[in-house]
Parts: sequence; C-alpha cells; structure tokens
Amino acid sequence: MNLEKLLTDRLAPAFETVAGVPVDPVVRRSQRADFQSDAALALARRLGRPPRAIAAEVLERAELADLCAAAEVSGPGFVNLTVSDEALGGLVSALATDPRLGVPAAAAPETVVVDYSAPNVAKEMHVGHLRSTVIGDAAARLLAWLGHRVVRANHLGDWGTPFGMLIEHLVDLGEAEATQELSMGDLDSFYKAARAKFDADEVFRERSRRRVVALQGGDEATLRLWRLLVEQSERYFLTVYDLLDVTLTERDFHGESSYNDLLDPVVAELDRLGLLRESDGAACVFPPGQVGRDGQPLPLIVRKSDGGYGYPATDLAAIRHRTGTLGATRLLYVVGLPQRRHFEMVYAAAAQAGWLVPPARAEHVGFGSILGPDGRMLRSRAGESVKLVGLLEEAVARATALARERNPGLGEAEAAEVGRAVGIGAVKYADLSSDRHKDYVLDWERMLALDGNTAPYLQYAYSRIRSIFRRAGVAARPDAGIILAGPAERALAFELVGFGTVVAEVERSLEFHHLAAYLYRLAAAFSAFYERCPVLRADEPVRESRLVLCELTARVLRQGLYLLGIRTPERM
Ligand code: ARG
Repeated sequence: MNLEKLLTDRLAPAFETVAGVPVDPVVRRSQRADFQSDAALALARRLGRPPRAIAAEVLERAELADLCAAAEVSGPGFVNLTVSDEALGGLVSALATDPRLGVPAAAAPETVVVDYSAPNVAKEMHVGHLRSTVIGDAAARLLAWLGHRVVRANHLGDWGTPFGMLIEHLVDLGEAEATQELSMGDLDSFYKAARAKFDADEVFRERSRRRVVALQGGDEATLRLWRLLVEQSERYFLTVYDLLDVTLTERDFHGESSYNDLLDPVVAELDRLGLLRESDGAACVFPPGQVGRDGQPLPLIVRKSDGGYGYPATDLAAIRHRTGTLGATRLLYVVGLPQRRHFEMVYAAAAQAGWLVPPARAEHVGFGSILGPDGRMLRSRAGESVKLVGLLEEAVARATALARERNPGLGEAEAAEVGRAVGIGAVKYADLSSDRHKDYVLDWERMLALDGNTAPYLQYAYSRIRSIFRRAGVAARPDAGIILAGPAERALAFELVGFGTVVAEVERSLEFHHLAAYLYRLAAAFSAFYERCPVLRADEPVRESRLVLCELTARVLRQGLYLLGIRTPERM
C-alpha cells in the first residue's frame, strides 16, 4: 500500500463530511512536510468559507494519529502531513517481506496487445525500430509483471508491392548467394540493389510487376521464394533482439501477410455497414472528425483502385482480430509519431465498424526521433540512416573498454559480460529516460557516464549494494525491525515505498521516463544514505535495519531495471 493512497483514504471521508460531496484530497509529496493536500483551497469558494477553516475542520475529523507525527494547516489553507517514523518503518517492513515490492497485481487483468518493433522484411532495422522495440518491450514487461495477459505482436512488414522486385532480385542473385547475403544481415544492400534495378531497368520492372501478381495469386513457386526472404530476415531480426535483450521471439512474429485472409471479409463487412465510399476508384472509409488542412474529410483507403490492399486494410483486419478473436481490450501501437494520423484514422474507422468499442480501446504509444550530436536526424557519415546493429556494437565496444579501464581486476569474460550489459543498458536507458513524445540526442559520453541519470549509474548502484553483502558475507533479515534514525534514512524509505505509485502511473501512461526518474532518485537517495549512515559498522539493532534498507534498494533497482529491459550485473 503506498502512502499517497493511505493518506488519501484517511482524508477523503473527512473532506466529504465537510463538503457534503465526495472530494479528491489530491495528496502529493511536498517540500514543506512529507505530503500536502491543497483541496481545501479549491473548496473555499463553493462552500463560502475560508480555506484555512475548511482545512482545520478536515484535520479535526480525519483519523491520522497512527500515520502522522504532525498534521497542520499552513499558508492559505494547505494541509501539511508529516509521516511518523513508526508508520514509515512499518511500510518498509511490509515491503521487505513482499515479493511484489508493494506493487499489487492488477485487480482486473486485461488482454493487452503490444504491437511493437515491426521491422520490414529485407530492410535494415533503423533507429525508429530501435525506439519501438525498446519502448514496446518495456511495456510488455511491465504489463506482464502486473498480471495482464500480454500478446506481443511483431507486425512484420512482409507483404506488399516491393516484394515483386525483391523476389526478382533474389532470383537474379541465385538463392544460395541471396540467403548468404541476407543471413549476414546485409539487408540494406540487398534492398538497394533491387531498388536500383527496378528504377533503371524496364524489363526488371515488368518482371517485378508480374511477380507481385503471382505472389498475390498464391503461386506456389513464388510463395516459396517469398518465404525464403521472410525467414532469412526473421532470423536476422532475432539476432538483433538477442543482442538487445528484448523478450520478442519467433512466436511473436505476426506479419502483415497473416491478415491476408481476413481482408476480404473486412471490406465486405465495411460495405455491409454502409461505411465504404468510392473515391478515385478506391474504396475508402471517411472516419468522422478526420479532416485535412483544407477542411475536407480524409479518406482511409481500404482497397486501392487496382484492387490491392495496403497498410490501412491490414491494420483494420488486425484490430478486428485482436479484439474479436484474441479478446483484447487494450491495444497498444508503439510506432513513431509521424504515423499518428494513420492510427487515428484506423481507430476511428474500426470504432465505426464496431470492432473497437468499450471496454476495448487503442492507444498510439508514439515517440519522437533520435538525433545526432548536430541536433538533426541521426545519420551515418555517408548520410544514410544508421544501421541499428552497428550502433549496438559500438555501445558494447565502448562499454567494454570502459569496464576494463575502470576495473582492471575484471577477467576477460566478465569484462565482456559487463560491457554488454552496460552498453546495451545505456542505449535502452537513454531512450526510456527521455520523454518519448520528444526527440532526443544520442550522446555516447553522457549515456555511458557513471554519474547522472544513466544506466551505468543505476547498475553501479546495484552492484555496489551487492558488494556490501558479498564483502561482509551477510544477508538481510527481512523481518528485522526498521529504525529510521535520520533524514537520509527517511528519504530513502520514502523512495522505497513510492515504487508502487510510479509503476501504477506508468501502467497507465506508458511514459517510462517517470520510472527512470524514480530509479535515479532512489539510487541518489541510497547514495546519500550510504554516505551518512554506516551499515556494517553500525551497532545492532540499527545494523540489521540498515541491511534491510540496502537489500530493498537493490531489489527495487533490479526489478525497476528489469522492467526497462536492463540487466543488473552483480559486479562492475
Ligand atoms: N512496419 C512499419 C514500419 O516500419 C511499422 C508497423 C507498425 N504497426 C502497425 N500495426 N502498423 O513503419
């Protein structure tokens, strides 16, 4: 149980009695005391009474004696609450024996589809896919930990007109050569070579067109070549996921092509519902409220004028499948902000068709771009989009070098292990610790720094606590009494008991920078505590109590970083 909630539950009935209607006391952390509630100020006008009088009456009526050492009216009518050491210590004790660290499992678990990563076959994953993969995986981990049934949907771009030219290029190269190139992860040169021929060579273009028709017509020989492309790309993507420590597996590939059989029924149903309108030969839905800059209604093209289906049709079919067949009530789309309009249109159309109705809802978990040091879109020196694996390998190499330098005692294997955990952790944390709605600058120095809001700082804090226990050969006794003697201990305790509040907030907002900021505050509070409060040299029973605080900090750091998809090496 978190403190905001406990205090809210005590203040709410008192406010209700005073106001005559239910009132949210809006309890929050405060500089003045531990917590404050400003609700009396908002009530003053309605009740025609001075806010201080309201606050005073609330305090008279609220039962706070077992939680608070002080409860007073201050300023124009704030309620200031100081939590007692005993109450705070009691909450810490409860955490110490709680395997869930004060984060209750969801009371009403849902089926949640997390649509993320979604690279395109025979195309290199770029940094946009990095963000989708990292954010989506954190969402999947967090929601699964809360007890939701999570369906990871890697909506692979494995269908569409480019496959004509890709298959023809594969035929030209020869299967052996082509698979070799693709399995090496040389996806970009494969795609570019196909594209170049397509642009330059009319005969190749014609072959490609015929190939698309054969593919859509279900020609067996063509399908076999197409599968080859898909399999090689999937295999390659899995190596990236492995390096990146994400929980996606081959079972989670639900490519666009897997919805092919559902496209006809989707269009038929839209037609039956009277939602289709023809526009320039294409069958379109005009979702209500979706208008362009010129004020004209915007079409969502469901079937193109050539009879083919595109991206929007697949997404409509996917929604229908996810709510109708999988029974999902929360659909998350972890896709860059430029696709926001597309998803708004698709959601609106799906709602009209009755495929997305409460309690089911869809959320676009959008994100900005990763920028280079020059503040522009991240590009390689040759001006091309940055290859994701290259970036990850650089992170690991840099972190391994730093690990060797900082700790020459590490063995070769351990340095490699630490380098990987820190390098990959740093990349993910740099992403997750910034507000996903905004762009951020990729800055190697900063993200690998041992101080500041970085993965290495948090991983180091964790390993330092582990080393306390290792050095002394002791373990914390979870049932030891908690004694909060000084401000540094209290501050750490407040952070520890705040984990549940943060996780609940992120469950809703999927803004992981709040979790990152929390972990950073926790690690900083631990640092301050460890500087001021000796642990192993303290006398009993304080020593026991402090060991519990250390152990709990390590557990919360590990769990929090796990939710972000970041490893916690035992030593660094
Ligand atoms: N493959 C797409 C891309 O690379 C992302 C797909 C996102 N998911 C979806 N259901 N549309 O941009």
